[in-house]
Amino acid sequence: KGKSKSTWVCTECGYTDGQWWGYCRECDNVNTMKEFTESDSGGGGKTSGIQVSERIVKAWLPKGTGDVVPMRLTDVNRGVNHSDWRLPLSGPFGMEVSRVLGGGLVPGSLVLVGGDPGVGKSTLMLQIAAIIAEGEEVGKAAPVLYVSGEESVEQIGNRADRMEIDTEELFLYSSTDIEDILQKAQVLSPRALIIDSIQTVYLMGVAGSAGGIYQIKECTTALLRFAKKTNIPVFLIGHVTKSGDIAGPRALEHIVDAVIYMEGEQYSSHRLLRAFKNRFGSTDELGVFEMSPCGLKAVTNSSQIFLSEERSDSEFLAGLAIAVIMDGSRTFVIEIQALCAAESSPSRQVNGVQKGRADMIISVLMKQAGLKLQSNVIHGFLSFSDKVSFDLLIRQNPYSKLIRVMLSSFLEFPIPNNVAFIGEVGLSGELRMVPKMEKRVVTVAKLGYKKCVVPKAAEKSLHGLDFGEMEILVCMNLKEVINTVF
Ligand code: TYD
Ligand code: MG
Repeated sequence: KGKSKSTWVCTECGYTDGQWWGYCRECDNVNTMKEFTESDSGGGGKTSGIQVSERIVKAWLPKGTGDVVPMRLTDVNRGVNHSDWRLPLSGPFGMEVSRVLGGGLVPGSLVLVGGDPGVGKSTLMLQIAAIIAEGEEVGKAAPVLYVSGEESVEQIGNRADRMEIDTEELFLYSSTDIEDILQKAQVLSPRALIIDSIQTVYLMGVAGSAGGIYQIKECTTALLRFAKKTNIPVFLIGHVTKSGDIAGPRALEHIVDAVIYMEGEQYSSHRLLRAFKNRFGSTDELGVFEMSPCGLKAVTNSSQIFLSEERSDSEFLAGLAIAVIMDGSRTFVIEIQALCAAESSPSRQVNGVQKGRADMIISVLMKQAGLKLQSNVIHGFLSFSDKVSFDLLIRQNPYSKLIRVMLSSFLEFPIPNNVAFIGEVGLSGELRMVPKMEKRVVTVAKLGYKKCVVPKAAEKSLHGLDFGEMEILVCMNLKEVINTVF
């Protein structure tokens, strides 16, 4: 009793190891293994999530149906109604969510909804719960159970009032005991089950405290088993921070069927919803929402994002650009500024970018685009939200964006803020492809850009894709970019 046990969890991929190796044995990253210590104060770790879930499901389902035996391939029911059916969610908000889920809610799926504390996960799930319960698309209301381990039912009720949700079939329950939650779910037999959050629930008999890595894993396993056996979809809310301080949810990414992350910047009311993993659909979809006093609203015309922001005025200034960079499937917004001024003693000053790379960009601009930058004082800055690590910027190479703002400053011509640039600039001024071209182009189209400049080499891979109203401008090199955009 009271002895503590250590686990190492990779902040990059979520891999869990019982031993420290100096690197992650799953993704080979160095120095990403963080130690988590838990005192073994529970009942000796005799119960597992699978056992508990099995017990509850067995007691519930008619005799025999819970036991799965190997099946002949030819006997497996693969009718359209059986395996491909998804519950569509109605309305602009529901459709936005549906798309991110891969076209609707898959019965028996376990979906992890992650995001920073306070970003709006509880708000999102309460709205989704109401829509599922109303079941407008299937013409029939059915119970949905929203379980919170963080708030009382009165608190959730008050929030629902503010959001003008008064769905009769929405059931609220405040509990942290998984066994109790599953038993209550058994009685109700809901159309969907929502757990807010995985960090607050625990399984009796499993070692460690709620929120610890063992509890989180066992609880998730129990819920996965429950979802599969009963065909009830389960949503699991998980607090995550980008720095990986809270390891739990990252370790769950392997267990669950789908992971969607909610993202938002502090100064903006916009929220992005993005599938990070999806066993039932693509991870290219992006949902755009706005947090209002009465809940989340789908942003169908996403160009509003740029119009409604306070800083929209400054975006028209020469030498300033907002760039969207990617980390895996996640996007971050960064701001880049550049100033070129003719002075008697030319100098260069850069912040946030390696000096050598900035020098290279300036050389390329002088040599390949014919700009007379040698008699200029140049200042370049990259500023970014505190959540984005410097590492990330180095990996993402947003240098082509720097070129764009330098051009803008030098030519004293503002970059139209509805034009996006995707690509990298080579030493001879040629535009080159960057990884995940399609995904980036789809993202900027969704964000409301009207035109997108892409390298010639990308033309083929983008052919036939639907970018809505956005026009694709193909350019070979910097000169073409200048002629096309400025
Ligand atoms: P919440 O859903 O509690 O975040 P999470 O569950 O991810 O921690 O929402 C957090 C913020 O959203 C909170 O600061 C208040 C704001 N909010 C609105 O702006 N409008 C609303 O209708 C609601 C319910 C919340
Ligand atoms: Mg919450």
